[in-house]
Amino acid sequence: MITWMGYADEVGENTYAANDTTKLVCTPGMAGGERHHTELLYPIGGTIASLMRTQGFYQFAEDGLKDPFEHAFGCTLWEFLTTSEEHKAAFDLYMAARRPASQKSWFEVYPAAQRLIEMSMLKESDVLLVDVGGGLGHEVVGFKKAFPEAEGKMILQDLPATLESVKLPSGIDAMGHDFFQPQPVKGARIYFLRQIMHDWMDSKCRTILQELVAAMDSDSRLLIDDYVMPATGAEFRPIHMDICMMLYLRAIERTRSQWVALLESVGLEIVEIFTPTNGFESVIEAKLAV
Ligand SMILES: C[S@@+](CC[C@H](N)C(=O)[O-])C[C@H]1O[C@@H](n2cnc3c(N)ncnc32)[C@H](O)[C@@H]1O
Repeated sequence: MITWMGYADEVGENTYAANDTTKLVCTPGMAGGERHHTELLYPIGGTIASLMRTQGFYQFAEDGLKDPFEHAFGCTLWEFLTTSEEHKAAFDLYMAARRPASQKSWFEVYPAAQRLIEMSMLKESDVLLVDVGGGLGHEVVGFKKAFPEAEGKMILQDLPATLESVKLPSGIDAMGHDFFQPQPVKGARIYFLRQIMHDWMDSKCRTILQELVAAMDSDSRLLIDDYVMPATGAEFRPIHMDICMMLYLRAIERTRSQWVALLESVGLEIVEIFTPTNGFESVIEAKLAV
């Protein structure tokens, strides 16, 4: 079974060898991911039939309806993570590390070098980038390493519990912030959201985006790093994530037209969508609609 799933190679009778997948799932981040998915998804699978028989199963369960995670665990995923230090640590490490080596960083998919030159008039006190819901800070730290000369401050925002153990290099500040509340950093050049929108149904995404829109000025750009599903012929990875998001969080991976509708509904317009060729996440650049 393990070799059939690709987790190791069978090289002889009762003899197995580690392959690239074995090595990947043994890293702390991917081991956290295995824990997250196996310990949480199996109970959801085991209780989904009773959810269908009783309440029914809705992708965007609203108005007191439960999602499959809540039905299985009695609370939402975010509430569950506040009650289990082990699962929270596994989840945060997974978020920080799940990118395979073949996947480009968002600042390679998005032409950050070229855009940074265009933004080179920033003063020291200006904010270049706010990583909203940035977890342990892996993306903003990676960005800072790639562009050490970039002018302007960088800020990592997440819930205070996530930031407790975070250590950041100089030039990046941590700020506890609930993204459903007014955005305290006004007029930043980049508000960056990686895998945040796909955690929430449209009504919640609209609240998150409206708080950002209120903080943005005409030079600000919103960058969303998430899948942009094609209308037909989607790859396995985003389809799998789409189902996971529905089961864990009553959420969704969106198609291009769903992104356009969502962003337009809060007064944003898409400047450009940058999509890598290998089926991974895109970077959507948006600005205040004129
Ligand atoms: C799927 S993870 C993505 C983390 C990071 N952006 C990344 O791509 O690895 C979602 C993040 O949203 C954070 N989060 C959840 N609810 C939040 C809220 N209300 N305000 C701020 N952050 C929140 C979680 O703590 C978590 O770090």
